[in-house]
Amino acid sequence: NMADVAVQSEGRSSGIVINDDWPGYSLDLFNYPAHYSGDLDCVIIPHGVIMDRTERLARNIMDDLGDHDIVVLCVLKGGYQFCADLVDRIKALSRNSNHTIPMRVHFIRLKSYLNDQSTEDLHIVGAEDLSFLAGKNVLVVEAIVGTGKTMQTLLKHVEAFRPKMIKVAGLLVKRVPHNSPCLPDYVGFEIPNRFVVGYALDYNEYFRDLNHICAISESGKTKYKI
Ligand code: HPA
Ligand code: MG
Repeated sequence: NMADVAVQSEGRSSGIVINDDWPGYSLDLFNYPAHYSGDLDCVIIPHGVIMDRTERLARNIMDDLGDHDIVVLCVLKGGYQFCADLVDRIKALSRNSNHTIPMRVHFIRLKSYLNDQSTEDLHIVGAEDLSFLAGKNVLVVEAIVGTGKTMQTLLKHVEAFRPKMIKVAGLLVKRVPHNSPCLPDYVGFEIPNRFVVGYALDYNEYFRDLNHICAISESGKTKYKI
């Protein structure tokens, strides 16, 4: 019984580190939508590995936050798949222990990327009143953290509503030259500084329907350029 196994805390971790020289897996080794053939270079993280890592993050989050209600704040659009799977795993773990955690799930939408470039104007789309966050334990769930600028802006926005605690779960953290000191509390993977797609991460709204996290090819970039 997995729930009975004593799991040692990871502490704050950079997650599974994928080095710059990691060539990825050949696309021929996996299934992926035929409409993307030629648009990808390789599989960086297969879907199954994402799910296994997510299960462990759920465990860590339960260990840290499991004593109180949680308000999950899913950062759209890229975060929807990770958030859905993470919440699912937290629910499964609570079912298997005698320890259920009331969770509310809310959504906030950010946009800052055009093609594969971060634009200056980060905006919170349809920013609603988040005053219900006051006094709550908030778990912000993001798919990817690059420079950390997006995360900093978002955290400032959320902090203004006076939650009791804010933790951040990020599936991917990019090793960028100017990594901000502001890193997620729970990190799935640390990845090289290259543009990735799949598992809800997009390139101009394409590739969200790809299960694996992949590197986009040059011809893929050209094909879907705006
Ligand atoms: N892929 C997709 N969306 C992103 C990325 C990325 O590598 N970085 C920031 N937003
Ligand atoms: Mg995007």
